[in-house]
Amino acid sequence: MMDIKEYFSLEDYNTFSIDATCRYFVESDVEEDFVDFVKSYELSSDDVLILGGGSNFLFTDDFEGVVFYPRMKGCEVIREDDEHVYVRVGSGELWDDFVAWAVEHGYSGVENLSAIPGHVGATPVQNIGAYGMEAGEVIAQVEAVDIFKGGKVMIGADECHFGYRDSAFKRGWKNRFIVTYVTFCLNKHFTPRLNYGNVKEEVAKLGEVSLANVRKAVITIRESKLPDVKIWPNAGSFFKNPVISRAEADALKKDYPGLPVYEVGEGEAKLAAGWLIEQAGWKGKSLGNAAVHDKQALVLVNRGHATGLEIACLANEIKKAVFMRFGVMLEPEVNII
Ligand code: EPU
Repeated sequence: MMDIKEYFSLEDYNTFSIDATCRYFVESDVEEDFVDFVKSYELSSDDVLILGGGSNFLFTDDFEGVVFYPRMKGCEVIREDDEHVYVRVGSGELWDDFVAWAVEHGYSGVENLSAIPGHVGATPVQNIGAYGMEAGEVIAQVEAVDIFKGGKVMIGADECHFGYRDSAFKRGWKNRFIVTYVTFCLNKHFTPRLNYGNVKEEVAKLGEVSLANVRKAVITIRESKLPDVKIWPNAGSFFKNPVISRAEADALKKDYPGLPVYEVGEGEAKLAAGWLIEQAGWKGKSLGNAAVHDKQALVLVNRGHATGLEIACLANEIKKAVFMRFGVMLEPEVNII
């Protein structure tokens, strides 16, 4: 059923807990409601925001437009063969509930993405990733409502142009599609991916290499590094890990041998933004009520009643410091509104 609210506080709808309001808040669990709504108004991409779990937004001001909040539910196996199972999931489901479901049913492909906050609908937009896995690898199809054309669409994975924390939904299609359902193609056979960081060691502590133990290990690692959003409101990684040319990375590595550098594509390398921020002296530091988490410098936290602007100012100081020290420009992963 559709519900429309005016001048609605988003405080409970963004994980930074910023008390910004939006002009209209439109929620529904029925696709046709959104179709009817968008057909009635001529909306441009500046007028709208599509909100899932709110774990990727920083509001620095009230939003004068329409916030769409899809609440589609359900998790249904729609097709399977010897190797794979196709699962259609409502965009309003919690991502981690889906991961728990997949692990319980013995389906592999998302276990390394355990305990990531947010809704299923945001996963194709952000192409969430962690511990050597990305959602884009298992997304088969995305169903959405086209805000500009006013109809339902089916989008194939190849059209989404998934990249590191990136997809067409963040570029040419920004604010165009209200994701309603995502179909994932999971594996019936478990091929563990343990090569990132200390995942292998954590799994070994638990015993056999099983789907359940990989999930447990990832949750343990995340809990040890990342702040609990209920106590310290935050949006996970605030910045993306910067991708620079291999030549620039080699030059930096000469000056800073401890710099973590990962291979990505030809002639490019990805640096650990958390390391750069820590070396620039910002880990654990604060500016007013905004702080850099003391166990993972990539995460900015609201220490209580921080404004969005305070957090944005802290982010800006960090950006400047990292650029002055390393000549590398950090780019926020979080959408700053
Ligand atoms: N590092 C530091 N200091 C820090 C943080 C990290 O020196 O304060 C170093 C670590 O020692 C390690 C390297 O940086 O050598 C990488 O650190 P980590 O494994 O913690 O991962 P990350 O690159 O900082 C990314 C994701 C995380 C994800 C982890 C694990 C991005 C922007 N972030 O962080 O995602 O959990 O890898 O896969 O890609 C999120 O998006 O909210 C998130 C937490």
